[in-house]
Amino acid sequence: LPKFSFEKARVPKDASVKKQLTDALNKNQYLKRLELQQIKDMVECMYECTYQQGEYVIKQGEPGNHLFVLADGKLEVFQQNKLLTSITVWTAFGELAILYNCTRTASVRAVNKVMTWALDREAFQNIMRRTAETRHEQY
Ligand code: CMP
Repeated sequence: LPKFSFEKARVPKDASVKKQLTDALNKNQYLKRLELQQIKDMVECMYECTYQQGEYVIKQGEPGNHLFVLADGKLEVFQQNKLLTSITVWTAFGELAILYNCTRTASVRAVNKVMTWALDREAFQNIMRRTAETRHEQY
């Protein structure tokens, strides 16, 4: 297997954005258990992704290919068309399908135009794998 290229996957971004992405990932109850370096690598590989008003960012029951951090705008979370909650800026979401390989547990819809930072499943898996390999090399 070719080694995943962090150089290619890395998306340059301002230090202030990196700080907000790091904080958003670290305050998520599932993602906060990851290692510091893994969070750093995830932040490096995130890229901007915008959605229009009314558009679905995530659909319940579908396979998940990205995790996100909301940077601007407002999102609503639904289960079986029932509104559960809204998501405010600098919050991570869509982490469950990526972490646990399950289908999307809820739908997430843009209330207005939103800007997110997305991370591909492939990048996430490679970051996890790279940590495992590095650890193996140490012993
Ligand atoms: P995931 O299941 O990948 O996709 C839908 C996302 O909605 C899920 O990850 C969580 O990030 C989020 N989500 C699911 N259920 C809730 C809930 N009850 N409250 C807030 N967010 C939720």
